[in-house]
Amino acid sequence: MALLTGSNKIKTAVFISGTGSNLKSLIKFSKLKKSPLSINLILSNNPKSKGLQYGKIFKIKTKIFDFKKQHVDEKKTLFELKKNRIDLICLAGFMKILSKTFINNFDGKILNIHPSLLPKFKGLNTHERAIRNKEKYSGCTVHFVNSKLDSGKIVLQDKVRINKNETPKTLAKKILAKEHKLYPKAILKVF
Ligand code: GRF
Repeated sequence: MALLTGSNKIKTAVFISGTGSNLKSLIKFSKLKKSPLSINLILSNNPKSKGLQYGKIFKIKTKIFDFKKQHVDEKKTLFELKKNRIDLICLAGFMKILSKTFINNFDGKILNIHPSLLPKFKGLNTHERAIRNKEKYSGCTVHFVNSKLDSGKIVLQDKVRINKNETPKTLAKKILAKEHKLYPKAILKVF
């Protein structure tokens, strides 16, 4: 795809629940000329998400819907996405599972990053499971979101070696560093 500038960039919303380090790396990437996207909205289901600070720092609109009444909050989310003319959603540590109806509304326009080499270790506690399973490698995957958890088309993966004395914590740290590079790379591959 040709290089896009300013307002021609793909308007993107990033959904988070926690620290937001992937959000930060996506924002930094979005500022580069080669980035096909701009980040126009940050959405969190958790008002205590550390990642929400990047809204203030980078002057990006933030929205918080707790998703306790998922159906209601998904409707509110869709309204916000329309209002802000969002064309792409990047899930980055978003801990809620979006409904089929929601996903159908954004079919083929939702990406996610998952901290394992999918299709291995879908869902939670990936690092514990990879170590327990005596895997030699783990890693991260950027994939499209479909209605089955962590099962959409894979865009890109990167791997790390699991060392002898690896703990879930050390593995998470190594993989997170890879994630920060992989998400922008995957976006460049898709667009
Ligand atoms: C990442 O490991 C991501 O793959 C997983 O949750 C973590 C989020 O980290 N889904 P952060 O909020 O981007 O720092």
